[in-house]
Amino acid sequence: MNRPVVLVSDPLPPETLAGLDAHDIRHCDGTDPAALRAALTEAHALLVRSGTKVDAEAIAAAPHLRVVARAGVGLDNVDIDAATAAGVLVANAPRSNVLSVAELTVGLIIASLRGVQAAGASLRAGRWERQAFKGSELAGRTVGIVGLGNVGRLVARRLAAFDVTLLAYDPYVPAADAATHGCRLLELDDLMARSDVVTVHLPRTPQTTGLIGRRELALARPNLHLVNTSRGGIVDESALFSALREGSVGGAALDVFEVEPPIGSPLLDLDAVVATPHLGASTREAQDRAGREAVRAVYDALAGRPVPHAVNAAAVESARARLSAVD
Ligand code: MLT
Repeated sequence: MNRPVVLVSDPLPPETLAGLDAHDIRHCDGTDPAALRAALTEAHALLVRSGTKVDAEAIAAAPHLRVVARAGVGLDNVDIDAATAAGVLVANAPRSNVLSVAELTVGLIIASLRGVQAAGASLRAGRWERQAFKGSELAGRTVGIVGLGNVGRLVARRLAAFDVTLLAYDPYVPAADAATHGCRLLELDDLMARSDVVTVHLPRTPQTTGLIGRRELALARPNLHLVNTSRGGIVDESALFSALREGSVGGAALDVFEVEPPIGSPLLDLDAVVATPHLGASTREAQDRAGREAVRAVYDALAGRPVPHAVNAAAVESARARLSAVD
């Protein structure tokens, strides 16, 4: 019997693929939709990070596909409805990189408060401007965590060491639960009005897109620092740009953007913005964990075993039953 074809369409550490030695592993550039569709015609499994858009057209081009495994957390690059309708399992690696993202968040909060990126650029340009870069301490500040899920909680735990007051907004978390993470739960408007630093840890969904816009930024304390290591589009970038230009927001640290890469974004020209190219999960440890978990999902799915982090398992079973009845 032919070996199942596993298509890898984003960079993954090669050693994490070792668990698939018995499979026919092929690679393609998932950022090229036509190349992806062509490669998918023979694939039984697809392994991605966030660079590959697994849209309805990609799914339609993959008649043998059984599973899409995401080496990472966010699934906004996978059309889960289209996959489910085609009987394709979708699985992610939900905790693989949360520690790396939380650590980067803490680093970016301090980088924003201290103007680290602009100061470094000035130094590299041959200047020595010690007076120009006067930042603020984190101790004594109030930090608002928007989204108290896996990453938000780790951020809360780490920030506790900095002698800050922690607030949180999360409609899915009870106040008592937030309190166990050292956070006082508030509505978003209250959190915006009381925080010196706001850090965002949400998935991008229709409900969270544009959640922090002009109105919310207008509620903020003078000199707010806004940090986003979750997904672009949750913070309205044009509202943020205006607020930074007008000085009503003091600084921002952005690892994620509405459109990635954010070519031509005026935010990148502002000294008050610390910007990194979606590096939250880019540590050796996180990539290793994410790769191994995604490979495990492929292995289990192709062997017909339950896949622990499949997000659509029940719906796929009914869809497969419907599809085989039609056959
Ligand atoms: C994730 O959702 O896992 C992170 O944003 C990292 C990535 O996109 O690969």
